[in-house]
Amino acid sequence: MAITAGRPPKAPDGPLNEPPVFASTFHAGGPVAYGRDGNPTWTAFEDALGALEGGSALAFASGMGAITAVLETLPVGALVVAAEQSYSITRVFLEERAAAGRFRLRLVDIGDTTAVSVALDGAALLWTETVTNPLNVVADLPALAAAAKLVGATSVCDATFSTPYVLRPLDHGIDIVVHSATKFLSGHSDVVLGAVVTADPARCEAVRRMRSHYGAIAGPMEVWLALRGLRTLGVRMDRAMANALDLATRLSTHAMIERVRYPGLPNDRWHDRATALMRRGFGAMVSFDVVGGAGAAEALCTSTDLIVHATSLGGIESTIERRRRWPGESRSTPENLVRMSVGCEAVEDLWADLDHALTIARRIAGA
Ligand SMILES: Cc1ncc(COP(=O)(O)O)c(C=O)c1O
Repeated sequence: MAITAGRPPKAPDGPLNEPPVFASTFHAGGPVAYGRDGNPTWTAFEDALGALEGGSALAFASGMGAITAVLETLPVGALVVAAEQSYSITRVFLEERAAAGRFRLRLVDIGDTTAVSVALDGAALLWTETVTNPLNVVADLPALAAAAKLVGATSVCDATFSTPYVLRPLDHGIDIVVHSATKFLSGHSDVVLGAVVTADPARCEAVRRMRSHYGAIAGPMEVWLALRGLRTLGVRMDRAMANALDLATRLSTHAMIERVRYPGLPNDRWHDRATALMRRGFGAMVSFDVVGGAGAAEALCTSTDLIVHATSLGGIESTIERRRRWPGESRSTPENLVRMSVGCEAVEDLWADLDHALTIARRIAGA
């Protein structure tokens, strides 16, 4: 499906894939008319992602463009219940807008389904991630979706970490999926893009209006690159997830590692839930706490060579960073937590690089 969805109709000498269409203005009489409302390159990407997620997709200029458009559909003063461990900028945005009176906000421990259900009393919207960034907490999506439905709240799930190759939130009762398509969907660290997917036509139309009115629209070139990347999603994910499980297993017995947070490990707190929800693997994001505190964790990140010291994630190249280096990161993220986005390199090369950097970190930390 990732390879074929969103192709133009077969026609002699027609292209296999929709090329980037650079146009602000279209001849009158069609459904698009103007480049802030539609573009054939968007449609190709949206058809492909919609087919993969099981709904209708809308492309956005960035993941944050997608996230804020969904939140903007809420009435003023609506109660949002959101995972405290969410992507830091999502949480900071919610906190800032709540302080400004736009929403009311209840932050919750999303792993604790009972506590979330209680917090949902009076809520208009539940915000979760499939697997939280960066603690790798796995949310019980079917139970959370049911609890939200019970109180009439819209359930929204950021599925950036898992992708539809691993987990389709709409299948579990979630109303709206959002993506930073910048990450695994595009897969090559060369594009910033977002998406919203829902199977509910009214919700889709409400978000589409936000896109047209606020104007967080995707460039045709970015969408074309994203669709090109999406074509290999399965191949990349298979390789990256196998690498991630291998590295997580090796890290879990390394003397410099206090704790590995990866739901694919049998002794991980979220392994059973992840096994019930995920297919094909457990994602390619591995977080771990380094012996020796923030200094040792920082030393590790600056000592790798093949593994790139950089933020962001989901590329074919592995990246690593200490998340608390960012001021907006949650205090529930340990200072010594390192988040690694595992890519598609040869796993022995990755391990050699990691092991060498851990040796340097040990020396620096005096551990
Ligand atoms: C889980 C998650 N959601 C959303 C975003 C925001 O996406 P973007 O950077 O494309 O705006 C990020 C970015 O890192 C993320 O990790």
